[in-house]
Formats: sequence, C-alpha cells, structure tokens
Amino acid sequence: MSDFDLIVIGAGPGGYVCAIRASQLGLRVACVEGRETLGGTCLNVGCIPSKALLHASHALHEAQHNFGKMGLIGAAPAVDWGRMQAYKDDVIAQNTRGIEFLFKKNKVTWLKGWAAIPAPGQVRVGDEVHTARAIVIATGSEPAPLKGVDIDEERIVTSTGALALKAVPASLAVIGGGVIGLELGSVYARLGAKVTVVEYLDRLVPGQDGEVAKTFQRLLARQGIDFVLGAAVSGATPAGDGVSLAYAMRKDGREKTLDAAVVLVATGRRPHVAGLGLDALGVALSPRGPVAVDGRYATSVAGIYAIGDAIEGPMLAHKAEDEGFAVAEIIAGRSGHVNYGVIPGVIYTAPEVASVGEAEETLKAAGRAYKVGKFSFMGNGRAKAMFAGDGFVKILADAETDRILGAHIIGPGAGELIHEICVAMEFGAAAEDLARTCHAHPTCSEAVREAALACGDGPIHA
Ligand code: NAI
Repeated sequence: MSDFDLIVIGAGPGGYVCAIRASQLGLRVACVEGRETLGGTCLNVGCIPSKALLHASHALHEAQHNFGKMGLIGAAPAVDWGRMQAYKDDVIAQNTRGIEFLFKKNKVTWLKGWAAIPAPGQVRVGDEVHTARAIVIATGSEPAPLKGVDIDEERIVTSTGALALKAVPASLAVIGGGVIGLELGSVYARLGAKVTVVEYLDRLVPGQDGEVAKTFQRLLARQGIDFVLGAAVSGATPAGDGVSLAYAMRKDGREKTLDAAVVLVATGRRPHVAGLGLDALGVALSPRGPVAVDGRYATSVAGIYAIGDAIEGPMLAHKAEDEGFAVAEIIAGRSGHVNYGVIPGVIYTAPEVASVGEAEETLKAAGRAYKVGKFSFMGNGRAKAMFAGDGFVKILADAETDRILGAHIIGPGAGELIHEICVAMEFGAAAEDLARTCHAHPTCSEAVREAALACGDGPIHA
C-alpha cells in the first residue's frame, strides 16, 4: 500500500485547497511545501500582503482627501513605514498559521521541503521518497524575466521585493500596466512616491473591457500616476542611488530614458515547474510552457495531475482553488468541474475593477448580437456619500434571449459586487432576473440592478 492516497506538491491556494478537500473526502493526503510557511505566493508575497498595503494606503488617502470634507478635522497621519510593514507581516502570519491549523484539523500531513517526482507514484522530499496513488502538481508561477533588466529585489524589484522595500521610494517606475503594476503602483503613489507606468501596449490592463480601461487610466492619472503607453522597455541600469530605465516608443522608435529610485518589473508571470523532474518523466508541456492537462487535470503520465498557475488559463488564486477542489473530487472518484465561463477577475485598486464572462470586444469580434446595460455610480446615493461616484457597472446580455453574457465594473467595492452577477450567470439568468431581484437601499449593489434594468426598459436613476 502507498504511504498516501494523494501527495499535493505546493501549498498555495490551489494546493492547500486540494489537500484539504481530498482529506475531507476520505483520502490520506500529504502536501509538500518548501517555504517556511504555508499559503504559497498568494499568502506570503502576493494577494494577501498587497491587500494589506492597499488597505493601509487607501486609508491614508481617505484621511488626506476626504476626512476634511466630512468634518473630520486634524493633521493627516504620517506614514511609519516600519509599522506598516509590521502590520502587513502580521496579516501574512495570521493567514499562513490559519492554513497550518486547517492542515492539522483536516489531517493533512505537511512534508517540509522541495519535491521532485523520481517516478510515477513517488515524491522525493529531501532524502526521503514517499509513495502515493495520485500526485497533484500545484507549484504555481514566478515572475517572468525581462531581457536587459536584472532583478536585485532592492532597486530593481518584482512584486516580491516591492512588498518589502526598505523605505517608500521618492519615485517608482513600473514596467507593465497590468494587474500587479497598477495595484502596487497605486499603493506607492498614495504613499507619496512619484509613480510612472511604462506599458508596451497603447492601453492598460489588456484583456479588460476597453471602456473600463480608459476610465481606469483617467482615475489613476487623477491620483497622480503618470503613464507612458506604447513603449517597449529595453533595459534598466543602476545609476547613482536609483535606476535608469531605457525604453523605445513603438510608433516611431524614439529612444527615451526615465530615472527612478526603484523599478518594479510587472510584465507577467510564468509557470514554475523547475526541479520536479518533469522532463525525465515525460510529462508533456503545452506550447506556452505550462503543464498540459486534459479535462480532468490529468497530465500525459498516469497518476500525475496539475492545476493552477502551472497549467493554462488565468493566473488567479481563485481559479487555482477551484481546480484544486475539482481535482480532489476527481481523484476521490467524484465528478469535479470548473466553469471557466464564470471566473471573476478583480483589480484591487481604488476604485476596484472587476469583470466576469465575455468582454464587449470579444462579442463584437465574434459577431454576436448583444445589448449593453450601463449605470454610473454617480446615480447611486450610497456611492456618492462615500465620495465614490466615479465608475460604472456594465452588463452585457444576449440581444435575443437577454441571458447575461458578461459584466464589467469599475467603482466602489466592485470586487464584491461582481459576485451576484457570477451567481446569476452560473444559474443562466437573464438581465431581467437581476433587474427584478429586490436590492437593499441604499447599497452600491443597486447600481448592478440599475445596469440590469438598462438592458431592458431603462434604469430609474439615470
Ligand atoms: P499582466 O499580464 O497583468 O500585465 C503585464 C503587462 O506588462 C502587460 O500589460 C504587458 O503589455 C506589459 N509588458 C510586457 N512586456 C513589456 C515591456 N517590455 N515593456 C513594457 N510593458 C510590457 O502581468 P502582471 O501584472 O505581472 O501579473 C502577473 C499575473 O499575476 C497575471 O496573470 C495577473 O492576473 C496575476 N495577478 C492577479 C492579481 C489579481 O487578480 N488581483 C494581482 C496580481 C497578479
């Protein structure tokens, strides 16, 4: 008999959820993790710490810009970077300890160390080889390197270094106007750094709704962030106390430089599967690098599965979680599945940006007949009371059937609001179903209902 029914490699959101679920379903489970703490990139150097800094810097922004308007008078707080870092570290510790507790509670064995797969059914951790009926690769991703830019995690940093800078820099150049660049760029802008985002494309956040992206850029510019769009970065050189960034404008090839105290490289991530021994095992990779899997997350080698950032699809913690859940059910003999048509995406800036389902651009390109229902937060009383009237909810519905095809929100609490639309889509709802659902007043959620009404006879408050 094998040592375990299942060994999961990696304890990020994909791996730890898979391990816990599999154990709940009666399997004997171990999870291998080489970091000192569980939780992977997300809990240790990603989603969770960045949300702590986003929350703290947003609170500062409120104190500086909105407290006075509400009659809250007094000096705006100063930034004690050491204490802000300690707060962030405490949030990380609470969360990683929480996973350790959940492992104990669910009888998941934590094998500490870095894993390799010497043969199907075997996982080596340090000097020991453990056997298992099934192995799940949940090893996540790492920042993709950029030619001409050498990371030192002090002056030229990835998101990992950017979360733990020694001080708030006077200036920050961000390479890449994607999710990481804008989340962390907006943190440092609010904390007082002069932030410039240099983006290869002519727009921000590729893949997001174009109208949302435009509004997003306008609102971030209003917060003091500068944008250089259509610029390809070719190198970053330490110079004096800072870094000199070289880039070329794509439309005319003009070469330019930008000096900054710190450069953040946020040009994407790549699957992290080095050291597992996949080559020797003959585990097939898909053309873009990640591990190739079938609809049941099975790789080309029997008994070895893969999920999360290590396989195709959006690199999102919750997508990995859902796959972890599903593959645990599949290995336990049940029928797990993930609905890839309803995976929300959220950018945790202020305001937040959230989306689910189809983008208008994709519907247009596919020649689909659709209608758009839009509602501005300016018409929402609750948002206005919070100085959060910027932004809108946009719902896309099938022109004939009224079925909701997608939604895009920029505005207060967008990352929470999106979920009622996800649930509606999961149930195959029409926009009219949302429009006829009673929404509490006064809530920002009413803007969702109004956008649904706008797909039909029209909203009330616009
Ligand atoms: P990204 O793919 O979101 O954005 C990278 C940006 O860099 C793109 O806009 C691209 O055009 C630009 N770029 C690439 N090469 C360039 C060059 N040489 N010069 C200038 N610009 C260049 O990648 P990002 O922000 O690094 O995030 C990595 C992954 O992590 C993404 O898949 C993202 O979804 C995920 N993530 C998700 C979060 C969330 O859901 N809130 C938070 C943080 C990361």
